[in-house]
Parts: sequence; structure tokens; C-alpha cells
Amino acid sequence: MKKINTLKAIITGAVCSGLLCFAVVGCAPEAKTQEDAQAEKQEEQAVESFWSIDMECGTCHADKKATTEDASLTACTHATQAQATCITCHDDEAALSEVHVGATASGPMPVKLKATTVEKETCQSAGCHDQSAEEFSALTLHIDTLVDVDGTTANPHDVMTLTAGHKDITCLDCHSEHAQDYDEAMVCVSCHHMGKYECNTCHEAA
Ligand code: HEC
Ligand code: HEC
Ligand code: HEC
Ligand code: HEC
Ligand code: HEC
Repeated sequence: MKKINTLKAIITGAVCSGLLCFAVVGCAPEAKTQEDAQAEKQEEQAVESFWSIDMECGTCHADKKATTEDASLTACTHATQAQATCITCHDDEAALSEVHVGATASGPMPVKLKATTVEKETCQSAGCHDQSAEEFSALTLHIDTLVDVDGTTANPHDVMTLTAGHKDITCLDCHSEHAQDYDEAMVCVSCHHMGKYECNTCHEAA
């Protein structure tokens, strides 16, 4: 019993003197660790905030930059005819800043938008596609690619405002910036699964 207590005392004493030793003699290495930690934290912060809207995007996104020079793509039309830059469309600053934490030029580069989107509102902002619904409709009056099995045709630009069932359809469903446009008829098939532009006739809403 006494032996154990003595042992305890010795251990406690050892730890205490150890601490004391650390406090006095060990002052220098302790301070260094703190410096290290601070440097590490600063590095971390630098990584966190490297992205800014006025930086050159093409050094990393070379593939996307190339699309602004390919006359067959809408990104090029926007760049040459509307002087659009990357951030004209990619305008969610906070989300993009977060997406780029730890991002490097060696990638992996994104193949689709995951954390951000280009809103219909951004496309339709003042000075861009800020036309009325009628003007939009007029742009695609001549398009006859949307025909259902009964021969009912639809103007693609009318679909977004057609009925409540279409409220989530956006410009990006049919138009692509950095690749060829999508087949607009495929947008319809996902819901109009029988190729008919109607619902609730064969069955009630599921
Ligand atoms: C240092 C290289 C680098 C620079 C500079 C850079 N990016 Fe990126 N960017 C990346 C990488 C890598 C990713 C993929 C990140 C991930 O998915 O984790 C990315 C992702 C993105 C995405 C996809 C967002 C999403 O929704 O998933 C967009 C949009 C984007 N960058 C736009 C820009 C714009 C605009 C600029 C210029 C203002 C820019 N980037 C500058 C490397 C860079
Ligand atoms: C259901 C599919 C669909 C949707 C949704 C859609 N479009 Fe279109 N749009 C088309 C088709 C098809 C054309 C005609 C072919 C082409 O020019 O790409 C067209 C043409 C255009 C044109 C004329 C292009 C030219 O060369 O004259 C503009 C501008 C346009 N769309 C902008 C928009 C914007 C902005 C939105 C969102 C507010 C939108 N579109 C939503 C299918 C769609
Ligand atoms: C006129 C609007 C517009 C401009 C300008 C634009 N983008 Fe995009 N970007 C989009 C849209 C819309 C998408 C969604 C996919 C698509 O439509 O091709 C997208 C997708 C992306 C993606 C995700 C990967 C992918 O292929 O979907 C990245 C990264 C990106 N853009 C970076 C850039 C960079 C960098 C620039 C400038 C060199 C730029 N974008 C210019 C509208 C634009
Ligand atoms: C997200 C599902 C969805 C998509 C995608 C969709 N529709 Fe529909 N559509 C509906 C629903 C639901 C109705 C039934 C009316 C309602 O509730 O809006 C409908 C009804 C219609 C009608 C009849 C409208 C009326 O006045 O009764 C037409 C025409 C139509 N859709 C055309 C299209 C075309 C063309 C496309 C593709 C560009 C399309 N829809 C894509 C869900 C969709
Ligand atoms: C021409 C008749 C017809 C029209 C019009 C039609 N459906 Fe259907 N739908 C069917 C049939 C038949 C089935 C069952 C067989 C199958 O899955 O294809 C079905 C199945 C479904 C199912 C699966 C139901 C389940 O319980 O698994 C959903 C969801 C659905 N339809 C939604 C829609 C929507 C939304 C529309 C309008 C955009 C629509 N349907 C228009 C005939 C139709």
C-alpha cells in the first residue's frame, strides 16, 4: 500500500517536474509549435480564399475557355456578341468560392455543374434575355420539332409558361453553353412518357 503511494508520488512528482521543466526549459520548442500551427492556419486560409471573381479562369478551365472560341457553341456567341465573361453567367460568388477550396489546375475538372447552377433569372437579367413572354415565343414560332403522337405541336419557348407542370423547366434543359444544345424533344419524354402532350386522360395523376 505504502509502496503504491510512494510510486504514485514519484510518478506525480515526475510529471510535475516534467511540466515544470517544459514550462521553463521547454519554452522555446513550445513557441515554435505555436508558430507552426499559425503558419499552417494561414496557409489554410490562403487556400480557402484563393478564388475571386476577377481572377483568370482559363488557366485552369482551358477546356471551357476553348468553347468561347468555337463558333458552333453558344458560349462563343455570348463571348463575341455580348462580351460575356465566365462570371456573367457563373455569378454565385459564395458557392463558387466554396467549390474552389483546394482546387488546383491539375483538377479533376468538373464535367457538370454540381454545387452551383445558372439560373433562368441570370439568363433573363437586364440587358440580356429580358424580353417579354410574347417576344420569347416569337423567337421559336418556326420551330416544329415538338410534335406529339396526335400531331399536337408546341412552341418550345411557350412550354416554360404553359401550365403548372412545367414550372421547373429552365433554359438549361434545352440550351447548352459549352456543348451542343440538347434535343428539346427529350425534355418532354421524361414526363410525357407515352409521347402525348397531355396528362390525367389515361390515368389520374400518380
Ligand atoms: C486553380 C484552378 C482554378 C481556377 C483559377 C478556377 N477554377 Fe473553377 N474549378 C477548378 C476545379 C479543380 C474545379 C472542380 C472543383 C470540384 O468539383 O471539387 C472547379 C469548378 C468550377 C465550377 C463548377 C461549379 C459546380 O457547380 O460544380 C465552375 C462553374 C467554375 N469552376 C468556374 C470558375 C470561374 C468562373 C473561374 C474564374 C473566375 C474559375 N472557375 C477559376 C479549378 C479552377
Ligand atoms: C423546351 C426547350 C427550350 C427552352 C426551355 C428554352 N429554349 Fe430557347 N430555343 C429553343 C429552341 C429549339 C430554339 C431554336 C433553335 C436554336 O436556335 O437553338 C431556341 C432559340 C432560342 C434563342 C434564339 C437563338 C438564335 O439563334 O436566334 C434564344 C435567344 C433562346 N432560345 C434563349 C432562351 C432562354 C434565355 C431560355 C430560358 C429563359 C430558353 N431559350 C428556353 C428551345 C428552348
Ligand atoms: C453565357 C453563359 C456562360 C458563360 C459565358 C460561361 N458559362 Fe460555364 N456554364 C454555363 C452553363 C449554362 C453551364 C451548364 C452546362 C452547359 O450548359 O454547357 C456551364 C457549365 C460550366 C462548368 C461545369 C462543367 C460543364 O461542362 O458543365 C464549368 C466548369 C464552367 N461552366 C466554367 C466556365 C468558364 C471557366 C467560363 C469562361 C471561360 C464559362 N464557364 C463561361 C454558362 C456559361
Ligand atoms: C416535369 C414534367 C413535364 C415535362 C418535362 C413536360 N411536361 Fe408537358 N405537361 C406536364 C403536366 C403535369 C401536364 C398536365 C397539365 C399540368 O398539370 O401542367 C402537361 C401538359 C402539357 C400540355 C397540355 C397543356 C394544356 O394546356 O393542357 C402540353 C402541350 C405539353 N405539356 C407540352 C410539353 C412539351 C412540348 C414538353 C417538352 C418541351 C413538356 N410538355 C415537358 C408535365 C411536363
Ligand atoms: C396515352 C395514355 C397516357 C398518358 C397521356 C399518360 N400516361 Fe402515364 N401511364 C400510362 C400507362 C399505360 C401507365 C402504366 C404503364 C407504364 O408504366 O408505362 C402509366 C404510368 C405512369 C406512371 C407510373 C405510375 C406507377 O404507379 O408506377 C406515372 C408516374 C405516369 N404514368 C405519369 C404520367 C404523367 C405525368 C403524364 C403526363 C405528363 C402521363 N403519365 C400521361 C398511360 C398514359
